[in-house]
Amino acid sequence: MGDLKTQVEDVRSSFGAAMASANSTDSLQELKVRFLGRKGTLTALLKSLGSFSPEERPLAGEALNELRDELERKIDRKKQELIQTEDAAAEAEDKIDVTMPSRGRPRGAFHPVAQTMHEIVGIMQGIGYSVALGPEIEEDYYNFECLNIPPWHPARDMQDTFYFPDDGRERRTLLRTHTSPVQIRAMLQYGAPLRIVCPGKVYRRDNDPTHSPMFNQIEGLLIEKDVSFSVLKGSLRELMNGFFGRELKNRFRASYFPFTEPSMELDIECVECSGKNSGCRVCKGTGWLEVCGMGMVHPSVVRSGGIDPEKYNGFAFGMGLDRMAMLKYGINDLRYLFNGNVSYFLSGRDA
Ligand code: DAH
Repeated sequence: MGDLKTQVEDVRSSFGAAMASANSTDSLQELKVRFLGRKGTLTALLKSLGSFSPEERPLAGEALNELRDELERKIDRKKQELIQTEDAAAEAEDKIDVTMPSRGRPRGAFHPVAQTMHEIVGIMQGIGYSVALGPEIEEDYYNFECLNIPPWHPARDMQDTFYFPDDGRERRTLLRTHTSPVQIRAMLQYGAPLRIVCPGKVYRRDNDPTHSPMFNQIEGLLIEKDVSFSVLKGSLRELMNGFFGRELKNRFRASYFPFTEPSMELDIECVECSGKNSGCRVCKGTGWLEVCGMGMVHPSVVRSGGIDPEKYNGFAFGMGLDRMAMLKYGINDLRYLFNGNVSYFLSGRDA
């Protein structure tokens, strides 16, 4: 019996040490197996009861059963504790803090020229115009001939126009130098009456700080009956004030384009200095900005579009979208629009 007592004490103390180092439900389960499992230390002692004398057996049994109950109780209690701490740890790890600020991603945006194009097209749609598009690879017939630009005109020069190699075709192919050929294509396609705007890329052999070999224009064309010059003036005033979001002074200056007669140019009040700064870098101190060429469509252009100029007349205008974007958004170098470097637009400009 004395022997059993020390064995019970041994089990109790090694169990105590094992319990102290069991810090997870897994290690606790291992511990349980080690002491109470089929081959466990205590189980082995219980099995040895048979070797006790009949007088000793009840006492020994009682002592071992008590010990087993004690171990089971302690294991159960510890198990509850461990489950709680493990659950709390898992919860802390999974926790989503909905108040945490996001990591922040740079937002995409339209290119300033696309933005400008959408704004101008939107205003023109508001006064009844539709969008018409034409090819960037154009024939010299539409780009020049139909528009009264004679072979000797400087615009036709190799210095100004990107021609494709001469492949013997009657009509040479080129990169359109303006959006005006879309006037002819649209008249041929839709007939009269017609109100269209034609935005798009155009190309010229030019490359310096204020000229890019590719740039953007928007063309406008209205063909109706008895159109007067005042309708043109009113429409363009509407467009400029709408685009810049305020009433701007304007003036129509006599000019020349082969495809309009008479021809004019529209100047608006300088959007930077309103004419108040003789050193203004935008208007060069003149107080005015040239923004748009226009005129009453030449009868021979109307005819090239398959429309009888005796019945219909109209006006056309053309302007540079890049310049409009630069003026509205305060971009001071054309190259920022095309070099693909967005940092200028993300920082405070003028960089
Ligand atoms: N096509 C001209 C250019 O590229 C701009 C222009 C002027 C268009 C007068 C027109 C117009 O429709 O009437 O410089």
